[in-house]
Amino acid sequence: MPLLEVKDLKVYFPIKGGILARTVDHVKAVDGVSFIIEPGQTVGLIGESGSGKSTIGKSVVGLAKLYGGSILYNGEDITKYIGKNRSSYRRGVQMIFQDVYSSLDPKRRVLDLVAEPLRNFEKLTRAEERKKVDELLAIVGLGPENAMKYPHEFSGGQRQRIGIARAVALRPKLIIADEPVSALDLSVQAQVLNYLKIIQQEFRLAYLFISHDLGVVRFMCDHLLIMHRGRFVETGNRQDVYEDARHIYTRQLIAAIPDPDPDMKDEKRTLRDRVGKEYDDLKDKHYSEDGRVFDLKKLSDTHCVALP
Ligand SMILES: Nc1ncnc2c1ncn2[C@@H]1O[C@H](COP(=O)(O)OP(=O)(O)OP(=O)(O)O)[C@@H](O)[C@H]1O
Ligand SMILES: [Mg+2]
Repeated sequence: MPLLEVKDLKVYFPIKGGILARTVDHVKAVDGVSFIIEPGQTVGLIGESGSGKSTIGKSVVGLAKLYGGSILYNGEDITKYIGKNRSSYRRGVQMIFQDVYSSLDPKRRVLDLVAEPLRNFEKLTRAEERKKVDELLAIVGLGPENAMKYPHEFSGGQRQRIGIARAVALRPKLIIADEPVSALDLSVQAQVLNYLKIIQQEFRLAYLFISHDLGVVRFMCDHLLIMHRGRFVETGNRQDVYEDARHIYTRQLIAAIPDPDPDMKDEKRTLRDRVGKEYDDLKDKHYSEDGRVFDLKKLSDTHCVALP
């Protein structure tokens, strides 16, 4: 049984208009997506800003109201828990938020921030709690002296690591990592990704790893979901997506991966120009008349693409 199964998920936000502020239309932030995550697997969710990635993540942790579809965790429909807090599923699925700074209360010490999920679920003595917090901080490479500090006393990378320590406090089975490294320098990115990998092995965690950059997730993900306009344009394993992308949107994302080798700069720019032109030429064939992404079609056991 998959750990998580999302079926035909739809999340629409109402657009209000007129003097009566009635719902005149909807923003179809997520418009019919399905995927599964197996225990211990890392699934990448990739797409440009506004494509609906965070909305999917929020639905999975119960922070968004579904318009349609279902979400099964260990085979159990969890949509009935939306808005409620203390179910076993809320313990098993945690989220690392895109904007970690605003998700960490600036007036609270690291000790309290990391201990908060524990206080909600476990009755620990002060000493037990402190021991556990120190262990969690150690996992992300922070010494016990950090427990008494406040969030503003840390660098961006360190704060992201505090967010990770907090997310793993309850030993979840699945972590939704929403752009966990996007705000960080390249060298710090590698370090944080490394901690995520170590933790994964230690706890046999599954990740839904959200990013707008196919380069960042290249060595992290077993399976990739490429998202555009609230729908999936292509899904597949690493080989399928990086070596054999079929949708022009996926090909554009690949062309946008920055090349660390400065000698390759010109070549990369030529590729980007070529793919950009290809996108303009083939746009009509890759989207329906109203600009909607087609339904996914199966190319192989692992590879699907949204083409007519
Ligand atoms: N609470 C909300 N009310 C109304 N519209 C919303 C709400 N949350 C998101 N949206 C809209 O839904 C769409 C998808 O937003 P979402 O935050 O999921 O995108 P994203 O892919 O995570 O983008 P980014 O890469 O910028 O984080 C956007 O058009 C956004 O404006
Ligand atoms: Mg987002």
